[in-house]
Amino acid sequence: MPITYDAEKRLFTLQTANTTLSFGVFDHGYLFSHYYGKKVKNADLSQLWQPGASGFTPNYDGAPDGRHALDVIPTEYPSYGGGDFREPAIGVEFENGSRLLDLVYQSHTIEKGNKEPDGLPGLSGGDETLEVTLKDAFTGLVVVLRYVVFADIDIIVRNSRIVNETGKPLYITRALSASLDLCEGKYDMISLYGGHCYERQICREPLRHGTQSVGSRRGTSSHFHNPFIALAAPETTETAGEVYAAALIYSGNFIAQADVNYQDAIRLQIGIHPADFRWKLENGDSFVTPEAVLTYSATGLNTMSQNFHNAIKYHLGHTKFRNAPRPVVINNWEATYFNFNEEKLLELIGSCNGLGIDTFVLDDGWFGHRDNDRSSLGDWFVDKNKLPHGLTPLIEKCEAQGMTFGIWFEPEMISEDSDLYRAHPDWCMRLEGRPYCRGRHQLILDLSRDDVEQYLEKVIGDILSTYRISYVKWDMNRHFTDAYSANLPADRQPEIFHRYVLNLYKLLGHLTETFPDVLFEGCSGGGGRFDMGMLYYDPQIWTSDDSDAIERLKIQYGTSLVYPPQAMTAHVSACPNHQVGRVTPFRTRAAVAMSAIFGYELNPLSLSEQERASIADQTAFYHSIQPLVMDGDFYRIVDPFTENSCCWMFVNKEKTEALLTYVQKLRIPYWHRKIKLTGLDPDATYYVDEIHGGVKFRAGGDVLMNAGMAIPCANDFEDKVFKITKVD
Ligand code: GLA
Repeated sequence: MPITYDAEKRLFTLQTANTTLSFGVFDHGYLFSHYYGKKVKNADLSQLWQPGASGFTPNYDGAPDGRHALDVIPTEYPSYGGGDFREPAIGVEFENGSRLLDLVYQSHTIEKGNKEPDGLPGLSGGDETLEVTLKDAFTGLVVVLRYVVFADIDIIVRNSRIVNETGKPLYITRALSASLDLCEGKYDMISLYGGHCYERQICREPLRHGTQSVGSRRGTSSHFHNPFIALAAPETTETAGEVYAAALIYSGNFIAQADVNYQDAIRLQIGIHPADFRWKLENGDSFVTPEAVLTYSATGLNTMSQNFHNAIKYHLGHTKFRNAPRPVVINNWEATYFNFNEEKLLELIGSCNGLGIDTFVLDDGWFGHRDNDRSSLGDWFVDKNKLPHGLTPLIEKCEAQGMTFGIWFEPEMISEDSDLYRAHPDWCMRLEGRPYCRGRHQLILDLSRDDVEQYLEKVIGDILSTYRISYVKWDMNRHFTDAYSANLPADRQPEIFHRYVLNLYKLLGHLTETFPDVLFEGCSGGGGRFDMGMLYYDPQIWTSDDSDAIERLKIQYGTSLVYPPQAMTAHVSACPNHQVGRVTPFRTRAAVAMSAIFGYELNPLSLSEQERASIADQTAFYHSIQPLVMDGDFYRIVDPFTENSCCWMFVNKEKTEALLTYVQKLRIPYWHRKIKLTGLDPDATYYVDEIHGGVKFRAGGDVLMNAGMAIPCANDFEDKVFKITKVD
């Protein structure tokens, strides 16, 4: 039984394979947190809960003695007005202007399995769900806290539902998904920051007193911060030490923060960003917050990542592509940009014949009269100037070569030079008459409007049902400004960001259900919307517009903190690299891209004979290792943020096969690197086989993990890839 309730002690205990979370109902009805951490057998942790004497911290009404100040008591879902001066999880404004709330326990239910939240993506296949109903007696406002246990992967999902039973409309001003009060301790905060072409760099800094937060107010989760936060003990490494982590299944504005009070107690929170957010809730209506995915690891960061990876691989999304084989793609963007016609594309497709590439993806520029990025977004009709016979000749050419055809859309955008804009100038986000911003010369469609969502269902559906398309690259190339909807009343304007995300999910849900055989890939100027919300519909995301192999080491390494390699698309592109101008070996570019969902972003005809000839070998090798990349456990071995090289490995569940990828950044004279492997069976013997080199030997798993293995001296940007197979 993963979730138990001790009625006598009024104590909830949530158990996973290696963790325990416990909280109880106290006298007044408050839900006080007892413990989250390494698994303990005894569910009664109430001795841990100690009200502390504290000055200038008022006691709540009905407190049993003078030491019950909410400001210092660990609480499950803190609210405003009753003496907890830290960051609340919820904020409401009632009709009379009052923001006071006092949420106390009413009832609870424990049920087998779990249901995904209405209208929002969530994890499925949970073991048990606990719902605890809290109520503000004075107004009748109800908050239901939901916990879903995924026992074998050490994941606990949390979110909340706010129900207006007050008889009058109210405004929600803050609705976080999870708030976690942890005991005092010293922790580093880990977050993923970045920018365009520079996504998910790792930031690790000691927590200090006060609030430290990351977030996005750009309308999407963004390149700049990722909806994830971890708190690791200072000594925590990849393989040892404790770490708490939370990620949000949401693609819009978010906040992730940690607050440390003067007693060193920590409050960890994640949810929709409260800035620019206010939601009017009519009487009888409810508001559901996105799911927060929580995990705790006592064995380092790699376990944290694997817990998240397992949640995504086995529990996120319903498409048939979840944890299933993916095509090797060739994409024409860096090969042609906007400069193509039918002849050029047919030649490009023809050049792929026999190379083992599964899908050709036609990127930006095939619609309206889009010869550059100044026009046509919104006009999802084939440009007959460039493609006089439509998409059919391209599709037929692909199919004649045993390939399928994919296509690029940027559905959420509108160009002022488009038929759509001329017909519906009110469909974009802005305030009529007021000067507004453009980003990449384009405006954002106001997807908070249902008519816009329906239009997109129709036009994209038309293309997908007219042509044999197996793959859609779904792009989104600017962030929100002028966030105003011509369709919303004044007091609902601050709902625009969340309504946009809800309708985006509706649109993606409709299209992925209507076209179940189409694989959707997410993209937002590269990895600008790389989050679990998008991964629910798009099981893989273009990781970055920076396709340089050396930059990609950090980007893919950082991304792997939360997201499995099977969620990342990575392509071999031409050199000098178009983003940074660097020249790296063709083989290294392939080794890095093969550590994810592999493909190409170049014109094979522009390659040397030798490079072109190696594509068939690369795709054959990748097809042979893709099951390991998809389903294997991923281990980070050498950190490219701190070292002059990078190394990671995949190990299958049976621990009989592994793949180790090592990449040198700059060569160091006489440098023979020794590295310790992870995840192998210590009692097994393995055969280590360097794919393109002469290192071949047998060694015990215990030796490889404890003594390590030597990596032969590598040149600038050189790769060393090893297949490791159990022999007995
Ligand atoms: C974005 C994407 C690229 C490409 C271009 C096309 O930048 O990240 O991969 O599709 O748009 O305009």
